[in-house]
Amino acid sequence: MAPDYEGLIDAAAKARETAYVPYSHFRVGAALLTRTGHIYTGCNIENISYSPTICAERTAISSAIAAGEQPGSFEAIAVVGDDSEPSTPCGVCRQVLAELAPGALVIMAAAPEKGKGRLSLTVEELLPHRFTFHSDGGGK
Ligand code: THU
Repeated sequence: MAPDYEGLIDAAAKARETAYVPYSHFRVGAALLTRTGHIYTGCNIENISYSPTICAERTAISSAIAAGEQPGSFEAIAVVGDDSEPSTPCGVCRQVLAELAPGALVIMAAAPEKGKGRLSLTVEELLPHRFTFHSDGGGK
């Protein structure tokens, strides 16, 4: 039977509680599952200079890579925002997931206190034709 990832969604919802969001007041939590069963969580962390803000998905993947997990070793990532509809990863997070979590399932869930909506797509479905290059560098 296919896994339902309810525990992963719960972990993302719990991680959302640690979000630092004094500017948008929009919390996001993410929970990243490795193929060996470890879970790394993340939340969005904002900054008064705005552009240094990091999304929950990238906080989670940064924690995992910093802990020694290998790129490509991820099975799924759950994302829970403060919205009544499922929150979908931004373009920057999609590009990062495409490189570090290829093939992973992205499970997006509505805020549990506001709705029951779910959306599950692979990283490649969320970002077809990701940026890449095939030479040994640009400008040669
Ligand atoms: N945010 C995320 O954490 N993940 C996304 O994929 C999109 C946006 C955060 C960034 C910011 O703190 C807040 O949501 C509002 O944009």
